[in-house]
Formats: sequence, structure tokens, C-alpha cells
Amino acid sequence: MNQRIVVLISGRGSNLAAILAAGLPVVAVISNREDAIGLTLARGHNIPTSVVHQRDHADRQSFDLALRNEIDQHQPDLVVLAGYMRILSDAFVHHYSGRLINIHPSLLPAYPGLDTHRKVLEDGVRIHGCTVHFVTPTLDHGPIIIQAAVPVLSDDNEDILASRVLLAEHHILPEAIRWFLDGRLKITPQGIVNLAQAGRSEQGKLFHDD
Ligand code: GAR
Repeated sequence: MNQRIVVLISGRGSNLAAILAAGLPVVAVISNREDAIGLTLARGHNIPTSVVHQRDHADRQSFDLALRNEIDQHQPDLVVLAGYMRILSDAFVHHYSGRLINIHPSLLPAYPGLDTHRKVLEDGVRIHGCTVHFVTPTLDHGPIIIQAAVPVLSDDNEDILASRVLLAEHHILPEAIRWFLDGRLKITPQGIVNLAQAGRSEQGKLFHDD
């Protein structure tokens, strides 16, 4: 049976590029911005793209419904938020419960929300990273599938740190998707993600680029 992934993006699409490079079955890419560079990348791979824009909808409910309709016509097994920078309604999240995942640039539950790299530097944190998690109605708080930790170096600035984290993102997001498609992810009643047939450290990576 062919599996189907729909990817939602808002911008550059480097995580989308990593998903495509891994040969994963992306059937559509949807954005809330028509100028998202990742849309061009998708078109270059002959993947159908579309834009669902907030300004074309009177309220959040009708926007979410339009987005749902756009996604569901592709009958996805999995929906991936890969740099999708809009908060989704509870109803939307419930509709995709257990088949909606997000990549976030911090070691959740630390640093949910925006500007994670700046906040990490301001706080003098020495280990930073990224997380792939199932999406639940609470922003950036769903069950954690995989995390990668990267060092914060003394001469880092926001851009350098962001690029180091991004490299790690490009490893863990395709891996999480593969696990999902292989049916290896199980969420316990306590909301912990277990990986079937896992080695001891597979869901936690230590990542450095030197
Ligand atoms: C990535 O760093 C991703 O973790 C982040 O946006 C960037 C998208 O980059 N996502 C969030 O902050 C979601 N809260 P990309 O468009 O090159 O993949």
C-alpha cells in the first residue's frame, strides 16, 4: 500500500528538502504564504502545491476548514508541519490526532514558541537542540518522538546556532517520518512515545557538526 504524506510549510523549506532527499512519499505541499520558497522546491519535484491564505477567510474557523479540505483531498496517512508558522485550532488538531507531527527548534518542553535560538543565547544555555513531536492542542507540547541535542558554543550568534540546529533537524525529521510510516511509533496512555524494536538511544541523538 502506498503511503501518503502532506507537508505544510511557511517559508524556506529546508526541512521539506530533507524529507524529499530521504525519498519519503510526499503527495502535496501546502503553504499559508504564496511566497514560500519551499513551494518552488516542491514544484521542481512535480509535487502538487497549494496556498491556503488567512486573508481569504473571514475567521479562523473557515480558514481551518479550508485547510482541512485542501489536505484531506490528498488522503494523507501523515501530515507534517515543517516550518509551518501558524497556530492551528483545537478542532483541526483533533481531526488529525495521531497523524500530525511538527518539528520545533528547541529541546521541548524547554523553549516552546518563537525565537528559541535568541532566548537560548540570552539564558546562557549550553545544550540546545530540536524536537519532532505529535501535535496536540497545547502549543509545542505533544508527545515527543525524537530529539537531537547540539552544543551552544561560546562564539555562537543566533544565525550560527540556528544553522547547527537546522542540520540536526534535517536528520531527525525524516527519521521520525520513517518510523511513523513503518508503524513503529506507539503513544502510551501517559503520552510517551515508544519506538518499537529500538536501540537504546535511537530517540535521543547527540549531534555536533565538528
Ligand atoms: C525550522 O527551524 C523549524 O524547526 C522551525 O522553522 C524552521 C523552518 O525552516 N519551526 C518552528 O519554529 C515551528 N514552531 P525550513 O523552512 O527551512 O524547514
